[in-house]
Amino acid sequence: MPADGPVLDVAGLNAAYGEAKVLFGIDLCVAPRQIVACIGRNGAGKTTLLRCICGFVKPLSGVVRSHGSDLIGLAPYDVAKSGVKYVPQDKKVFYDLTVRENLELGSYASGDRNWEPALNYFPKLKVHMDRKAGYMSGGERQMLMIARALLGNPRLLLIDEPTEGLAPGIVSHLREVFTDIARKTSLVIVEQNLPLVCAIADVVYAIRDGRVAAMFSQRSEMSFQTFEKFL
Ligand SMILES: Nc1ncnc2c1ncn2[C@@H]1O[C@H](COP(=O)(O)OP(=O)(O)O)[C@@H](O)[C@H]1O
Ligand SMILES: [Mg+2]
Repeated sequence: MPADGPVLDVAGLNAAYGEAKVLFGIDLCVAPRQIVACIGRNGAGKTTLLRCICGFVKPLSGVVRSHGSDLIGLAPYDVAKSGVKYVPQDKKVFYDLTVRENLELGSYASGDRNWEPALNYFPKLKVHMDRKAGYMSGGERQMLMIARALLGNPRLLLIDEPTEGLAPGIVSHLREVFTDIARKTSLVIVEQNLPLVCAIADVVYAIRDGRVAAMFSQRSEMSFQTFEKFL
C-alpha cells in the first residue's frame, strides 16, 4: 500500500442523480488521525459525498484518492477492502441475525477475526452477543455498525449522522469512542450535533447546496454561531 498522500483527498468532485446535480466541485482533505466533520442542512449533499467516496455513487468528475491511490471506479466492496469503511445513516444491521452473527459477517468480509479491540469500545455488545440485532436500541445498533466497520483495522471510517436520534448518554459515549478511534483511524463524520462537532472535530466543512461553503481548522473558529452563518 502506498503510504504517500493524505488518508483522503477529494478534489473537484461533481455528482448528480440523473439530471439533478447535487455536488459542485467539492474539495476535502483528511490527514492521519484527524476527525473531520461535515455539517449542513438536510439535502445539502453530505450523504451523497460519502456515497461517492465509498463507491456507491459514481461521480460525474473529480478525484477521490486515499494514500495516493484512486478510489473512483472501485466497487464499494473493494473500497472497503482498501481500508475505507462506510457506516451509513440508516443503521441497517441484519435484524434477524444476532450481534455475533453480524460481527461474523464483518469478519468474513474483512478477514479479521479479532473482535476484542472493537468490542472494548462497546462493552454492551459483549453482553448481548446472542441477541437479535432487530431487538437492540438505535444506540446499540449504531455501536454494532461501528464495531463491525472497525474489523480489518480500516485507515478511514466514514460515518453518516451517527448520533441522530440517540439519547444524550450514548452520544457522550460515542464522543469518547470517536476520540479514541482517531488515535489510529481517521474519521469523517457527518453530524448535525454542533456541540459534539465543536468538541471533537479537527476540521469542519460546512456544506451548503452541494458546495463547501466554509472550512474551519482552528479550534477558536469553531462555534455554533460561526457555523450557523454557513448552513
Ligand atoms: N437516490 C437519490 N436519487 C435522487 N436524488 C437523491 C437521491 N439521494 C439524494 N438525493 C437528492 O440529493 C440531494 C442531496 O441529498 P443528500 O446527499 O442525501 O443530502 P444530506 O445528506 O446533506 O441531507 C437532495 O436534494 C436529495 O433529495
Ligand atoms: Mg444525509
